[in-house]
Amino acid sequence: MDEKTAKKEIERLREEINYHNYRYYVLDSPVIPDAEYDRLMRRLEELEARFPHLVTPDSPTQRVGAEPLKEFGTVRHTIPMLSLNNAFEVKEVMEFDERIKRLLNTRGEIEYVVEPKIDGLAVELIYERGILTKGATRGDGYTGEDVTQNLRTIKSIPLKLIKSPPEYMEVRGEVFIPLDSFERLNQERERKGEPIFANPRNAASGSLRQLDPRITATRPLDIFCYGVGSVRGKEFRTHMETLEYIKDRGLKVNPLVKVCTGIKEVLRYHEEIEERREEFNYEMDGIVIKVNSLAFQERLGVLTRSPRWALAYKFAPKQEMTRIKNIEVGVGRTGALTPVAVLEPVEVGGVTIERATLHNQDEIDRKDIRIGDTVIVQRAGDVIPEVVGVVKERRPGDAKPYRLPERCPVCRSRVERTGAIHFCTGGLMCPAQLKETIRHFVNKRAMDIEGLGNQHIEQFVDEGLIRDVADIYHLKEKKERILSLERWAKKSVENLLNAIDKSRHPTLERLVYALGIRGVGEHMARVLADEFKSLDALMSAEEEDLLRIHEVGPETARNIVEFFREPHNKRVIEKLKKVITFPEKKEAVGGKLRGKTFLFTGELSSFTREEAKRLVESEGGRTASSASRRVDYVVVGENPGSKYQRAMELGLRIISEDGFKRLIEKGSL
Ligand code: IVH
Repeated sequence: MDEKTAKKEIERLREEINYHNYRYYVLDSPVIPDAEYDRLMRRLEELEARFPHLVTPDSPTQRVGAEPLKEFGTVRHTIPMLSLNNAFEVKEVMEFDERIKRLLNTRGEIEYVVEPKIDGLAVELIYERGILTKGATRGDGYTGEDVTQNLRTIKSIPLKLIKSPPEYMEVRGEVFIPLDSFERLNQERERKGEPIFANPRNAASGSLRQLDPRITATRPLDIFCYGVGSVRGKEFRTHMETLEYIKDRGLKVNPLVKVCTGIKEVLRYHEEIEERREEFNYEMDGIVIKVNSLAFQERLGVLTRSPRWALAYKFAPKQEMTRIKNIEVGVGRTGALTPVAVLEPVEVGGVTIERATLHNQDEIDRKDIRIGDTVIVQRAGDVIPEVVGVVKERRPGDAKPYRLPERCPVCRSRVERTGAIHFCTGGLMCPAQLKETIRHFVNKRAMDIEGLGNQHIEQFVDEGLIRDVADIYHLKEKKERILSLERWAKKSVENLLNAIDKSRHPTLERLVYALGIRGVGEHMARVLADEFKSLDALMSAEEEDLLRIHEVGPETARNIVEFFREPHNKRVIEKLKKVITFPEKKEAVGGKLRGKTFLFTGELSSFTREEAKRLVESEGGRTASSASRRVDYVVVGENPGSKYQRAMELGLRIISEDGFKRLIEKGSL
């Protein structure tokens, strides 16, 4: 790249970054995800490193944050509140460790403190003889906003330290809003017609930087303290010692803070925390790695923006930016129309996503989502990715608001709206609804018919071989027809028919779940099976019988009664009765494993995981998905995973597949 092109790009990047700084720091309303911002910043840093004489003092790389809001008084930080260098890959973390060793001229392992990096906003609390006298935001790193009155409303910030305070101490920490409170706050704002916060960090920042502290007081803010600024009357040797000291005086320190010896241990801990990320009620965007020894910190020193002794090692971002290529509409089992955004593929949290749910028309309207828009998409845990918001600045000129179709995209029946949801009125004559019903019926956790995949369901429904779920059990009689279809050979048909045969003796809870009654998930199905003991009894239950069950609410009760009253459903159930066994749940029957909980790890040789689970259930036992003290037996197959490790640590009872077979047959080992 020649200098002229570099200069142009640098200028463009600065302008863009300045704008995003303003949106983020001043307005608390960012329009791009952090990951995108980080990329812009890195690109600018990279270019400036290559062309150092193009660096200017006003470049965004040369300062820490944004200017303080004028409405608040200002506080000058005695020691600048620096920022952190970011790492996104293992390699960068290894380099950080190597650099430290080189600068310290040592080969020994370095002791690091690892802390979660909380996604909130940095503040400084000043305690004079143990009394909180001032509190400020980070501001631009040198001067912050005086938000003392607002900080005083946060319950986890002590107004007075609980014991032997030092003469003077500046404590630094991150103010944040717990995730559940964030959800509640946004719901409330939506109800009142106020703009909702893009993420918990903006909610925290917006709440703390209120001119009226009474408003701040209503916001459930919290804090984790992670260090000190200037201190008089106390000396520390290590960072961990500092944290212990402030903790002892009543300040809140994150419980995950840990000393790790050597960078390998740091990497392992990073992995562990990232895996457990969803467990916590606050947003974490990575870990912070700090050299523990303060003498070492001193020797390593600081650069303009960040210290050499610390590094933020980010987790895979949960939000990314991409473009909506199209909006498609899916029709579910109940006939509900779900708009889905078809995206330019993008990696979010380590997984490539190409589709994101848009929920319903109201959501599309509220977020004003249009085809061609650049949007921020988000993934959390196992849930379906969703579109968080639109980057309006990047909207193409011709983008029109999107409306759900008036006719079902699959069967062309009329679409009707009930509440927020649009429904196809075609009922089971709508192939989409039938296909979804079948898909649900055969799924692993329902009747578990392996080999009847989506493609086959499409094919069989389109060919008229399956018109309701009971028809699955008549496919045997249509073997010749199937063989004449594309993609079917003798062997594959036999496998399918075998799989179907194997599913003819379900447990009652699986059968109830498989029927796909609205509001009856796996748990509810189990509750109903335990209560009614047979499908006939459940079918003749009245709403009041159902309502007597603690876990059944009025809506579910109504759904259940209506489902069994519906003539089509009655017909299908009668048909099913002729082809599968309808289980009766008797207290004494199949009770060899009653009260016992099993956990499976690794591959079993004579059953699939689902078959094994079903065996346990049919003998009255339960299965768990992770190792805990509630588990009675851990069945270990070939190549067991991390659950095995965890089970060993907990000292759980471990048995082989043969042992498991003996238990199933005899009820003892
Ligand atoms: S240490 C010199 N520790 O991340 C060290 N920062 O980019 C400066 N943050 O402004 C900060 N959790 O808002 C530190 N455990 C932690 C942190 C943390 C979150 C934030 C803080 C800071 C930013 C640095």
